[in-house]
Amino acid sequence: MAIDFDPDLIGALRKARKITVLTGAGVSAESGIPTFRDALTGLWQNFDAAALATPDAFRRDPALVWGWYEWRRMRALAAQPNAAHVAIARLAGRAGHLNLFTQNVDDLHERAGSPDVRHLHGSLHHPRCSGCARPFSLPAAAPVEPEGGRRLAPPSCPACGGAVRPGVVWFNESLPEDILAQAFASCTSSDLLIVVGTSGTVYPVAQLPDVARRAGCPVVQVNPAASELDRACTWNLRGSAAHILPALIGRA
Ligand code: APR
Repeated sequence: MAIDFDPDLIGALRKARKITVLTGAGVSAESGIPTFRDALTGLWQNFDAAALATPDAFRRDPALVWGWYEWRRMRALAAQPNAAHVAIARLAGRAGHLNLFTQNVDDLHERAGSPDVRHLHGSLHHPRCSGCARPFSLPAAAPVEPEGGRRLAPPSCPACGGAVRPGVVWFNESLPEDILAQAFASCTSSDLLIVVGTSGTVYPVAQLPDVARRAGCPVVQVNPAASELDRACTWNLRGSAAHILPALIGRA
């Protein structure tokens, strides 16, 4: 069934010369990658994602944390981009200028064809040494991880022997400064910000819709549930990303 969009939203989308897109875990939910609000399963069922994603957790129990990230990397490699990732890639081809920022550590935007994806929270696919920070190459194919996950000792850095760590931004760590600055600059200089599938609970990214609005950039949010960002958004489209985005972008 056709979705009725506010004509002002379609107008803003059509005349936008510069668009910023900000995505969170919800954009990959329909590819089968659980969000951070979903309960963990298997070996991880008694853990809270926020408690595993910290430098302290890795120091205390590297095999527990590395095992969790390898299990997530395997699931990400097995997943396919969904219609929302594809629609965003298509919009990039159509809009004069589009900047895509994601909090996700998977590579589904890239595999859907989006060029120049900026990862605010790092990537599952680019681990590095926790000692000397040299990048570490993982096999392109994920090791076969058991369905329920397992503890797995992290590899050692060939240069210094340090433990290899996931290339993601953990709680209590800083975001990549250059990408964060680009996100703020893009939000304040765009004609439209499209926010997809984020709970808006993790800062500083959660500030971006508000920053955009105050700079005069209208914000449209796609999320099946209420989020912390509702108040900052001009339009709240309640529905799944794979349902709403192709329909919205089809009107661009
Ligand atoms: N389409 C769109 N949105 C969806 C869908 C869907 N199919 N399914 C769920 N959502 C929404 C949820 O309603 C929720 O608001 O996606 C959001 C997911 O929220 P989080 O799990 O909190 O993910 P995110 O906002 O990306 O988390 C931010 O927190 O744990 C850290 O570093 C981690 O990058 C992550 C950050």
